[in-house]
Amino acid sequence: MIDLLISPCRQVVGLAGDNAKPRRGQALSDLGLIEHGAVGISVANGTIEYVGPVADLDSSLLSASCPVLDAANCVVMPGFVDSHTHLVFGGSRADEFFRRTRGETYQEISRSGGGINKTVQATRQTSGEDLFRSAQQRLLQLYNNGTTTVEIKSGYGLDFENELKMLEVISHLAEVSPGLILGTFLGAHFFPPEYKENRAGYVAEVIRQLEHVADHSLADFYDIFIDPLAFSRDEAEQIVAAAQYTSLALRLHADEFGDDGTAAWGVNQGALSCDHLGGIGPEGIAALAASDTVATLLPATMFFSGHGEYAPARKLIEAGCAVALASDLNPGSSLVYSLPLTMTLAALNMAMSAEECITACTINAAHALGLASLIGSLEQGKRADVIVLNVPHYEEIAYHVGCEIVRDVIIRGRVIKRNGGLVLQQLDRGLTA
Ligand code: NIG
Ligand code: FE
Repeated sequence: MIDLLISPCRQVVGLAGDNAKPRRGQALSDLGLIEHGAVGISVANGTIEYVGPVADLDSSLLSASCPVLDAANCVVMPGFVDSHTHLVFGGSRADEFFRRTRGETYQEISRSGGGINKTVQATRQTSGEDLFRSAQQRLLQLYNNGTTTVEIKSGYGLDFENELKMLEVISHLAEVSPGLILGTFLGAHFFPPEYKENRAGYVAEVIRQLEHVADHSLADFYDIFIDPLAFSRDEAEQIVAAAQYTSLALRLHADEFGDDGTAAWGVNQGALSCDHLGGIGPEGIAALAASDTVATLLPATMFFSGHGEYAPARKLIEAGCAVALASDLNPGSSLVYSLPLTMTLAALNMAMSAEECITACTINAAHALGLASLIGSLEQGKRADVIVLNVPHYEEIAYHVGCEIVRDVIIRGRVIKRNGGLVLQQLDRGLTA
């Protein structure tokens, strides 16, 4: 039974089709577009009941006095899926933002006591309640920009107590928030100051934490930042070897600044997603293309940090890789809350088309989280995470910059944003319950 109808819609970007595997090649551009369409939702079940032309809708499926949202000049599409964020953190790194504008690099700032370890210090000093409150505010910004599913990493605690504190905050957000939230254990983000001279000791500590996290189901995934600034391949291998006996799926910060061979290695380890890839080389591209590991590109990081190369999206796509886009929201290299802006950056700096950008922020990002059977497209039976955009054509999503184009946000059938305003009463209830 349909008890919320969005009709008429100028364009429905449904992305229906063969979504069993992440999309690649031509399928990245197949938006399953329906002009003058309608989307019928069961609020009771939180699911999508109808997607198709207005003319084909069987009105006997509508409940009595079914509310109708008019989207005659709008694009209607699945909510955005942000598959790589560091949304929970303490403190601020605004000073580093301006140091970079005066010529210091992300790496230099990191080596001089700033960077990830600065956020580690602040996060350790912030209580779980305060971390929760600030993360909640950021989450509202994401909802406001049309993101309805968010992956969140730990990785600013870097000791047992504080990694667990972060994961508890993420679990609490997942419990009380309307949108789906997935948690990733990122103890292998960086070497904390107390282990600077004892790398082997910290790798052992990460393994100890990872086993605890898995035993107590405190996260869905684990992640490793493999980089000259962070973990070596050898260290990562030890962590992956320990994790193979757990249910945690692997995702990676891979080949961010250079070709370390991490993407190809990650494919061999069965990583769900390899992220960043600014430095990826031909072997990594070929390995990703021959696998179902998603190549998640984070153009907002280059934009914001001014460091590194944009990933070679055209080469990746032309080789046949399944590409996704994410924000990398974090206090140091990408305090970016918006996937529409991320799409703009992907178009301008990586020559991705409007269609590729949309697929990369929806169904392929859902694949990067292993959730493509539930979210990422508008198909009957899927979760009703639906957004209504104040633009008449999907090409305009990446085209408007600094303009709030998201008019309505519906999560699991519940209206979270209506006519441009967050429905705060409902949200307050949902978030602080
Ligand atoms: O994904 N690359 C490693 N980690 C983060 C940066 C985090 C920070 O600077 O606080 C990233 O870009
Ligand atoms: Fe990251």
